[in-house]
Amino acid sequence: MTTTVENPSPTPVSIGAPRGGPDQPTLRKDNWWVEPLVTFVVLVSFVAYSTWAAFVGKNYYAGADLHRDLISPFYSPCIANSCVPGSHAFGTLPFWNYSPALLILIFPLGFRLTCYYYRKAYYRSFWLSPPACAVSDAHRSYSGETRFPLILQNIHRYFFWILLLFNCVLTYDAILAFRQPGLGIGISVGTLVLCANAAFLWLYSLSCHACRHFCGGQVKSFAKHPTRYKLWKFVTPLNAHHMRFAWISLFGVALCDLYVRLVASGTIHDPGFHF
Ligand code: FES
Repeated sequence: MTTTVENPSPTPVSIGAPRGGPDQPTLRKDNWWVEPLVTFVVLVSFVAYSTWAAFVGKNYYAGADLHRDLISPFYSPCIANSCVPGSHAFGTLPFWNYSPALLILIFPLGFRLTCYYYRKAYYRSFWLSPPACAVSDAHRSYSGETRFPLILQNIHRYFFWILLLFNCVLTYDAILAFRQPGLGIGISVGTLVLCANAAFLWLYSLSCHACRHFCGGQVKSFAKHPTRYKLWKFVTPLNAHHMRFAWISLFGVALCDLYVRLVASGTIHDPGFHF
């Protein structure tokens, strides 16, 4: 008898047996492979673009010559010796003459790489472990995150604190983007792009599972911890949308870099007005 979703026959299941394998196909009839495939393509595209943007080392700052103060989030804080004039609001490290992005990208990258949501996404789309619910695992054994290197995923909670500092820097950049050197204070599309990018990154960080745990984790009685209860109540609805914020902020940061790059290189004009 053929086994189908419509006409299921008993499927042998052994609790504790090896997970999946090529000889245990899925019974799913829907297009379950679309989501992991799209995730794979988007993440590979982002990694390819951000790697190129990090190494190229130019056109990351639109400065006074364009009457703008816009810096790419991939290059902020710009603390390398090689930073272009006007872009290094926080001082420079005199020994670093390579692309400034290579100094700092490890932190946002580490945060995203160890994010609980992205782990699920790339475990599914890259390692097929498993590729989707009720689809067999591409691997016969499963050790979870109990051994090196995956045990390093546990440092996510520390990346969270570092990323809060980055968010403060990018918020400061967004405020500086209201300056239009030589013209005064104003608003341009670039200003709005940097503001939106900072807002999306705050939403992504504040919806983080580690953030929610920090606010309300290990509390036996919220009545005795009213402040933590308020914080937990604030971040819990955000946490429910963490996946959405993860994707929006990923596109946001790449598009923000692209926009600044196009303005800084003179490819496009940044429309705006000043007071
Ligand atoms: S769980 Fe995704 S950023 Fe922390």
